[in-house]
Amino acid sequence: MSEPTRILFVCLGNICRSPLAEGVFKHLVDSEGLSDRFYIDSAGTGNWHVGRPAHPQSRRIAQLNGIQLTSIARQIQKEELDQWHYIVVMDDKNYSDIMAMEPTSAQVVRLGDFDPEGPGIVPDPYGYDDRVYEQVYNQIYRSCRAFLDALNNNEARMG
Ligand code: 4NP
Repeated sequence: MSEPTRILFVCLGNICRSPLAEGVFKHLVDSEGLSDRFYIDSAGTGNWHVGRPAHPQSRRIAQLNGIQLTSIARQIQKEELDQWHYIVVMDDKNYSDIMAMEPTSAQVVRLGDFDPEGPGIVPDPYGYDDRVYEQVYNQIYRSCRAFLDALNNNEARMG
């Protein structure tokens, strides 16, 4: 069997968006019996929340959709960049921050570019109400669904 596809979801704080993306993607993979084929994690570009669980509003919206978020915030390290096949960022600042770290082999992609309802960034919900977290959850869900479909069809390997 080929090695698992290694995917790292990245946002700024690693407490709101990337833990949701990690949890949703793991949930989709598990529900399709594909967990052996993927290794999935998340990290932040910033270090303010290192060691903390996902934000209560992210945990709440995930829980409402039957998903437990288990991530503990950590900051991405330069040494790990090329251990990932895909580094999946949420917004343009995440993208430029990761590119400035000069990954060589990992493909850096924007999760929102897979959204079938229209490509775009996944906006930072920090400080907003539950409705914003719900919108972000829905965007992340649609995009993770489409990203997994693309990987299964081998489209996203094109780079
Ligand atoms: P995240 O959201 O990047 O989706 O985890 C944020 C969480 C915290 C902060 C910014 C964004 N902050 O500035 O503390």
